[in-house]
Amino acid sequence: MKIFIETERLLLRELTPDDTEGILRLDGDPAVLKYVAQKPIDDLNQAREMIAFIRQQYVDNGIGRWAIIDKKTNDFMGWGGFKLITTLTNNKSNYYDLGYRLIQSYWGKGYATECTLACIDYGFNNLLLNEIYAMADVENTASVHVLEKSGLKKIEKFIYEAESHYWFKLTKMEWLNKY
Ligand SMILES: CC(C)(COP(=O)(O)OP(=O)(O)OC[C@H]1O[C@@H](n2cnc3c(N)ncnc32)[C@H](O)[C@@H]1OP(=O)(O)O)[C@@H](O)C(=O)NCCC(=O)NCCS
Repeated sequence: MKIFIETERLLLRELTPDDTEGILRLDGDPAVLKYVAQKPIDDLNQAREMIAFIRQQYVDNGIGRWAIIDKKTNDFMGWGGFKLITTLTNNKSNYYDLGYRLIQSYWGKGYATECTLACIDYGFNNLLLNEIYAMADVENTASVHVLEKSGLKKIEKFIYEAESHYWFKLTKMEWLNKY
């Protein structure tokens, strides 16, 4: 199993069918989906379908969200990383969106920030991206904070799925200028 990123506490690797129960814990929790236009799932089959859907993106796009694994316990914590967005979003398509979603017991320990900073580094150095985008519901304070702490810039507000969202962007030049 290829590990794409290793940080101090996390491994980021492809999602596999072994993550089915973890995905059910994640996407079965309404609190996790509070700011996302997605209904909670309630059985393992839906979790399997979700994993198959993301694995198909690995094939079609060469990228998709990765499993976030606790290095110490090998437990599935959630997903994070890039998704190639091909549909029109805020008047843009064919861009790389950076995102994350963690099982509730892992919130508030800096894991999303650790994952995001490592993904930004990977995106610019390994995927050779010139710009990285992200979006978050304006009321999703934790997510907005993660993106800002990671250096992404709030560009504007727009309406997505009938909710007000911030649109974030980070260019390679901005990122390089930080070092
Ligand atoms: C968003 C999410 C990934 C954050 O994960 P996390 O590991 O808890 O994030 P971190 O610990 O790295 O950072 C969160 C920051 O927001 C702050 N924060 C958390 N909740 C907050 C709140 N309600 N109000 C203000 N700040 C808040 C934390 O204090 C922390 O900042 P600090 O490090 O300066 O103290 C997690 O809450 C989650 O999975 N939510 C559900 C899925 C989701 O919304 N994904 C994003 C969609 S855009």
